[in-house]
Amino acid sequence: MVDELQEMEEAVPERNEDSPLPPSPPVQEEVQEEPPEVEEPALNAQDPDEEEGDARMKAIDLIAPTRLDFLAEKEAAAEPPVKTAEVIAFANQKGGVAKTTTTLNLAVAFAESGYRVLCIDLDPQGNLTMSQGIDPDKVEKSLYDVLVNDMPISEIIIKREIDIAVASIDLAGAEIAMSTKIGRERSLEKALKEVEGVYDFVCIDTPPSLGLLTINALTAANKVIVPVQCEYLSMRGLVQLQNTLRMIQENLNPDVRIEGILPTMLDSRTIHAKEAVEILEENFGDLVFQSRIKKAIKFAEAPVKGSSVLKYDSNSSAANYYRELAKEVLSHGSA
Ligand SMILES: Nc1ncnc2c1ncn2[C@@H]1O[C@H](COP(=O)(O)OP(=O)(O)O)[C@@H](O)[C@H]1O
Ligand SMILES: [Mg+2]
Repeated sequence: MVDELQEMEEAVPERNEDSPLPPSPPVQEEVQEEPPEVEEPALNAQDPDEEEGDARMKAIDLIAPTRLDFLAEKEAAAEPPVKTAEVIAFANQKGGVAKTTTTLNLAVAFAESGYRVLCIDLDPQGNLTMSQGIDPDKVEKSLYDVLVNDMPISEIIIKREIDIAVASIDLAGAEIAMSTKIGRERSLEKALKEVEGVYDFVCIDTPPSLGLLTINALTAANKVIVPVQCEYLSMRGLVQLQNTLRMIQENLNPDVRIEGILPTMLDSRTIHAKEAVEILEENFGDLVFQSRIKKAIKFAEAPVKGSSVLKYDSNSSAANYYRELAKEVLSHGSA
């Protein structure tokens, strides 16, 4: 007993002299236990399991938790800014159905709600560009340069009520110029990568055709809004658009879908308009938006002043039609 006590007394002071900090020894012990853990699992399947399990717990307790917490915090902090934009194409191969009017006014309604919005004028007629007071004949760089010559899209964005990637008259030649390009359907999608994370919504106005420019829009988009003028409703046109979209889903962009069909220029006083909306709902059901864009002279007046209806007459019911539509689109997004 005496010998044993003497040994212990000797042992205690030795430790204190060697390592005055108490936490050090446990760390050393466990670090020494680690190497066999790493080697064993592949060789010995069962017997050392319990030891390994205990040892792993210690290693995690000591090292991993801090690392994992750090990573989790980092991930949580990183997610919101990386959120990709909703890319909405406004398409209908029929002209004069309010594609351009809807692109601009819905975009401005999103911006009013605090969202960062980019509009893209893919129509060589440049109506969207004009409706923000910019002359397409005078712009030096346009979407033509982006689609055909791979110019960064940021170089052709002009800031107005919303940011707008402008069209010029030479955009009409883009389809032919792009036709020999590899990946010609993805030129716009590729260009948008540069501004990923900069915008919450990208709204693309398209020409009245289902050619390469519209295909670029549908390939870059995740949603399509189809404005339909109820006075001259053409079901065949919508079926054709659906077929094009199906082809794009199968070959280029499986995620794109119709966000909604929007009855525009509605003259609710006429029976014909009511019947047209009814036919639309019978054929397309829930795809038809609840929102209705009624006829109003302000929609023709505002572009002449180079502004949206929301800016031209902010309190008008015309402006509110698009604010209602914005709410409906936002509610779809969060559902
Ligand atoms: N709700 C509306 N009421 C009256 N006129 C409208 C309405 N929406 C659009 N317009 C007018 O109809 C014409 C065609 O609209 P636009 O948006 O240019 O169609 P698209 O781009 O499909 O060719 C334009 O002159 C526009 O000002
Ligand atoms: Mg148009």
